[in-house]
Amino acid sequence: MNITASTAWKAIEAHRLSSSPVHLREMFARDPGRANALSLSFDGILFDFSKQRIDSTTLPLLTALAREARLAEWTDRMFAGERINASEDRAVLHVALRRSAGPFPAGNLDVMSEVLATRQRMAAFADTIRSGNALGFTGMPIRNVVNIGIGGSDLGPKMVGYALRSMSHPALGVHYVSNLDGAQLAPLLQTLDPRTTLFLVASKTFTTQETMLNAQTARDWLVANLGDAAAVANHFAALTAKPERAVEFGIRPDAVFPLWDWVGGRFSLWSAVGLALMIAIGPHAFADLLAGAQRMDEHFRSTPYERNLPVVMALIGIWNTNFLGATSNAVLPYNESLKYFPSFLQQLEMESNGKSVGIDGQPLACAANPIVWGELGNNGQHAFFQLLHQGGRLVPCDFIAAVRSDYPLPGHQEALLANCFAQSAALAFGKTVDEARSELSRTLQPAALAELLPHKVFPGNQPSSTLLLSRLDPHTLGALVALYEHKVFVQGVIWGLNSFDQWGVELGKAVANSILPAITNAALAEKLDVSTQQLLAFSRQHLA
Ligand code: F6P
Repeated sequence: MNITASTAWKAIEAHRLSSSPVHLREMFARDPGRANALSLSFDGILFDFSKQRIDSTTLPLLTALAREARLAEWTDRMFAGERINASEDRAVLHVALRRSAGPFPAGNLDVMSEVLATRQRMAAFADTIRSGNALGFTGMPIRNVVNIGIGGSDLGPKMVGYALRSMSHPALGVHYVSNLDGAQLAPLLQTLDPRTTLFLVASKTFTTQETMLNAQTARDWLVANLGDAAAVANHFAALTAKPERAVEFGIRPDAVFPLWDWVGGRFSLWSAVGLALMIAIGPHAFADLLAGAQRMDEHFRSTPYERNLPVVMALIGIWNTNFLGATSNAVLPYNESLKYFPSFLQQLEMESNGKSVGIDGQPLACAANPIVWGELGNNGQHAFFQLLHQGGRLVPCDFIAAVRSDYPLPGHQEALLANCFAQSAALAFGKTVDEARSELSRTLQPAALAELLPHKVFPGNQPSSTLLLSRLDPHTLGALVALYEHKVFVQGVIWGLNSFDQWGVELGKAVANSILPAITNAALAEKLDVSTQQLLAFSRQHLA
């Protein structure tokens, strides 16, 4: 369906046109109850969206849009295990991975026995390593674990592993390698002892070029150093939906942990792909992470749209993108431990909804996902926030902070929170000409004041939401990630696209394969475009 032709869409458009643009400053002045009215909380997460450019009539109009897009029907279809990923003919059941019991989704289509059995095997494997009972080829205990994967087989466990590093096993090193550039793997190998290192090859397809090349190099390094190809059996495990390919690689069948075609890569953190994370934080903390996500799943399924965190978050995104014209969305964690959250979200959102063709194969009638970008907020303040404050662009922001810290240095947490709250307030309310003039008049003569005045005005009205967590523990983090996952799903439904395929990444892979032989063989470059030929010629010259 063309959502822009729907009654709800037209009503929202009419609402936007009829309500004269009111500055956030004025919206707050008019309604002292605004912060409370435009906030939701759930399981230790406060979601304050009062600094978005909406009024009390906007949200009901947006929820009508969700209804008209048949969100409830699509949600039921996803949770029922229907093959809603049409272009890949797959079900979308990552929510099953958070559950602790079956049957699910239904008696005749129960995936839970496999899910629970795999989780149990993962826990046993993780415990053996954590206890020092997992021995390498020479009889020494495993002390370092290297996850080799990319995209969804890297970003999720790495992001959560860093977020929860305060609870990491103290005697184990857990590392992540994703990049084809040897500058990531080579220096890491220099620090590792092959006798005590375990490699986890994380790849749903077990064909991804980056992962397979890194895994092969790690294998060669191991065999060269331990002097026996049989060592691979003690030092490699695989997390994959293609177990036969892992076994072919030389990995013991009992060290292969499955996932299934109904788990999308960017939703696979909760599956065997989370093994490195489970080894780091332990099966109990991993179970808490799953429990937090499952709570969000239940909230998403059972809460009326007006009070439903993922739905409201998604609808605000639709409002900003499709009605206010925002083209990007900044993710700004005021929490060092969420350092990798922006890049995790980039894959989750842009690989899911970065599309312009609908699920029906027709061009979308409206823009879909904005560009997601971001950085630790406090660092960003001293880098790119200038543009957010005075650059004249509409950039909705997600501020994320946790009240309690795992690293409570005196005064740090208070200052961090103050900065987070100050930035969203400054972006929303700005500084008027009158305020700036009255400030400057205390120290400047009229001529100097007039010169400086335009530079000291902050237009404000920059919309943001703040997600304030009581603390960043496994449960709350699980809920936070599931919140964004469902937000992505809701937006995909409204835009009418398939959030679960990613055909757009294929072309570059195919072109890379055709260019690879021409890096060393000039004759093979002749059919390529002249720019690529020039790049290849320069490379050959310097490689030589
Ligand atoms: O190229 C994109 C992608 O397919 C992602 O969707 C996926 O997370 C990543 O590559 C890694 O894929 P795999 O787990 O199969 O190695």
